[in-house]
Amino acid sequence: MIRFLEDLATDEPELVDEQESSFLDLGTGNGQLLVGMREAGFEGLLTGLDYSAPSVEFARGVYATEFPEEQEGNDYEFLHADFLASHAWNPNNREWDVVLDKGTLDAIALADIKYGELTGVQTYPHQVSAFARQLVLITSCNFTEQELIKIMTRDGLFEVFKTVPYPTFEFGGVKGQTVCTVAFTKTK
Ligand SMILES: C[S@@+](CC[C@H](N)C(=O)[O-])C[C@H]1O[C@@H](n2cnc3c(N)ncnc32)[C@H](O)[C@@H]1O
Repeated sequence: MIRFLEDLATDEPELVDEQESSFLDLGTGNGQLLVGMREAGFEGLLTGLDYSAPSVEFARGVYATEFPEEQEGNDYEFLHADFLASHAWNPNNREWDVVLDKGTLDAIALADIKYGELTGVQTYPHQVSAFARQLVLITSCNFTEQELIKIMTRDGLFEVFKTVPYPTFEFGGVKGQTVCTVAFTKTK
């Protein structure tokens, strides 16, 4: 994911700006993806969000240890929220330039929680489109690339921007890969 964003920052700086772009990591876990982003040279605001309070505390501690010179609230932040449940965690309708998801949509699919009439997977693109300014980058080891694309494009809120190539394996004449990463942009 980081290498893809680095390439994008070089090739399409209007989409990803190494100095300015803000990033929101949905389901940040231990926050390692954000640490990697900073180490790779992305200088904008980094936000990690998770509905697990211990995870938020842990990620905050890891990040603060790695980058003691940075200030929470200014350079980075960790938010405790379920981003599918409501918009209450984002009262000012903030938007992030790039939304990242590494394994969180997978966890949502497996958790099988209902949000009103909708499953988490069904409500996901609607919630994400409210705070994604332009680009959403999702990595899954649960869904195939085609399944992921169907989830995100079904309601017309997102379109495929690019897919990230991974090594493939072949079994019984069928080609496959164990993980997929797809970048989506919001439809106009
Ligand atoms: C499979 S883990 C991935 C963690 C991290 N992104 C990584 O790659 O190591 C999924 C994470 O998403 C969080 N999560 C799942 N559903 C969520 C939701 N609706 N709102 C916020 N966090 C959620 C879980 O608490 C967990 O930390």
